[in-house]
Amino acid sequence: MACYHSNGNSKDSSPAVQNDSLKKGRMNMSEKKSIMDYETVALNDEKSALVIIDQTQLPYNTEILELTKQEDIWDAIYLLKVRGAPAIGVAAAIGIYLAAKEIKADTYDDFYKQFTKAKEYLASARPTAVNLFWALDRMDEVVKANTDKSVPELKELLHKEAVEIKEEDIWVCKTIGEYGLSLVKPGDGLLTHCNAGQLATAKYGTATAPMYLGQERGYNFKIFADETRPLLQGARLTAYELHESGLDVTLICDNMSATVMKNGWVNAVFVGCDRVAANGDTANKIGTSVVATVAKRYNVPVYICAPTSTIDLNTKTGADIHIEQRPAEEVTEMWYKKRMAPEGVKVFNPAFDVTDNDLIAGIVTEYGIARAPYTESLKEIFAKKEAAKAAKTAK
Ligand code: MRU
Repeated sequence: MACYHSNGNSKDSSPAVQNDSLKKGRMNMSEKKSIMDYETVALNDEKSALVIIDQTQLPYNTEILELTKQEDIWDAIYLLKVRGAPAIGVAAAIGIYLAAKEIKADTYDDFYKQFTKAKEYLASARPTAVNLFWALDRMDEVVKANTDKSVPELKELLHKEAVEIKEEDIWVCKTIGEYGLSLVKPGDGLLTHCNAGQLATAKYGTATAPMYLGQERGYNFKIFADETRPLLQGARLTAYELHESGLDVTLICDNMSATVMKNGWVNAVFVGCDRVAANGDTANKIGTSVVATVAKRYNVPVYICAPTSTIDLNTKTGADIHIEQRPAEEVTEMWYKKRMAPEGVKVFNPAFDVTDNDLIAGIVTEYGIARAPYTESLKEIFAKKEAAKAAKTAK
């Protein structure tokens, strides 16, 4: 694994040092490239590497990793060095292409056997974001649809598909941004949870796409970013990228959403998702369902920004979604100078929760906005997607 730093900030992550190094980072801002100038996830084909920003180091260090080994790619997904459902999907597509590139096989069957093994390995990195499986399946379809091709031809087709998956994500996010923007008005207060930003996608983000497009058009949104315990994606990533981009963002703790909503400061909630079930139940970062429940109390609409790659019609309801459980240390020790919980205490640390569909005002996709009843409207969204695909093929 190769890596390099774009600045010389300390790697020490104790809170006191973090404050100092953050100040130092700000002072050096003019010399420093903005985080928005980096690609979240990319392929360096010459080096046979998946290139990512190590998001566990943000905002203090912008460390770029060039991952060539499958074990390092797996670790990067599991450890959230690359994270956010769409970015995980793109990383998996590039990862499986790189695995395929290394395969030595004379026959299709031998190639496919090794490809399947590599696919299963990457698929085991994280369970909830369906984009991981969606991207791997899409790459798998390419191999299955080309049984007549030679091994070098299969590798070339996989390269093309991985590049396409990434390029598509940019269009998807931008289109979601346009639909999202149609739901709000200039000057609105918007709240978001976790990071469904550029750092979670190939570009623009999903929940942040309306914010970035609104900024280009002078909407002057007032954005509230939940810090998002325990891994602080909201504080470390969302507040960082929005602030670097010059948006008006206020960081709040996860237990403050009721206060800002009661104060009348929030007109809409935009969040991302890791898996949307056929009935609209939505798995997203732990705490999303708390925000949605509070929003219902204060009549604030909650919009799920969902690329169709995150909608899983094969999962009937939220109860069928596998929720990832993560290590206790993320709650008891991480980010603290000293452990902040008694040794031996039981910890429950699910990475995601499911927001029931009745708390959701709309699911914003690249093919339009789905409204309740979602069992019907999500099917219509997929019908539109199929029609668009057919029209493109017919051209
Ligand atoms: O555990 P993470 O950081 O991968 O969780 C990310 C989220 O929950 C995001 O909101 C979701 O993946 C959507 S990203 C566009």
